[in-house]
Amino acid sequence: MIVTLDGPAGAGKSTAARALAARMGWCYLDTGAMYRSVALVALERGISLDDSAALADLAGTLAIDFRAGRVMVGDRDVSGEIRTERITQATRPVADAPSVRAAMKQLQRRLAEGRDVVTEGRDQGSEVFPWAEVKVFLTASADERARRRHREEAARGVTTSLESVRAAQAQRDEGDRVRPVGAMQPAADAVILETDGLSADEVVERLATLVAGKRPGASPP
Ligand code: C5P
Repeated sequence: MIVTLDGPAGAGKSTAARALAARMGWCYLDTGAMYRSVALVALERGISLDDSAALADLAGTLAIDFRAGRVMVGDRDVSGEIRTERITQATRPVADAPSVRAAMKQLQRRLAEGRDVVTEGRDQGSEVFPWAEVKVFLTASADERARRRHREEAARGVTTSLESVRAAQAQRDEGDRVRPVGAMQPAADAVILETDGLSADEVVERLATLVAGKRPGASPP
C-alpha cells in the first residue's frame, strides 16, 4: 500500500511520515532527502547548478537509498551533511530541473516497488504515485509553520528572528508552488489535513485512521 504525504515546509510532514511508517512497520521514503543528496554530490563534483543536463546525468546514476532510517548514497551515510543551509539552498535549482525530477520519479517508484510505503514530499500524490491508496496534503497556517520552524531552530542553538524565518519560508513556498514541473499541489483526490492546533500524535492518529479505512488493491499503471 502507498501513502503519500505532501505539503509545504514546516507542516510537520517528516515527523508524521516517519511516525506513521514506524507504527505500520512500513518503509519511509523521504524524497526531499533524495533531492538534497543530488545537490550534495553535485557540489562536491563541481557540477554547475545551472547545468541541468549534467545534474540529470548525476541524478540518474546515484544509488540513493534508505537504510535503517539513514539516507545513503551508495555505502555513504549522508543523513547529516544534506541538512546544512548550504545544501538547502543548492537543492532548489536541482529540484527545479525537469530532467532531474524525471530521474527521481523513476528512482522513487523503484524504491517503492512491492513494498508498503509512506512517502513524503511535494509531488508524491500528484505526480509520482497517482495510484496511491491514501493521499494526504498536510498543511498549517504560515504563522504556525514559521513558529514551529523558529522553535526547532532555537532548540538547535540557531538564533534567528521569527520574522526572518517567516520571510524565508514564504520564499520557499512560492518556489515550490511555481516550479513548472513537479509543483507543490494537492492531488485532486487528496485529503487536506490542516495541522494548526494538532499535536504530532494527533496528526499520526488521523493518518492511521485514513489508512485503516482503505484496502490495498489499486496497482500502478
Ligand atoms: O522537504 P525538504 O525540505 O527536505 O525538501 C528539500 C527540497 O527538495 C525543497 O526545495 C523541495 O522543494 C524539494 N522537493 C521537491 N520534491 C519533493 C520533495 C522535495 O521538489 N518531492
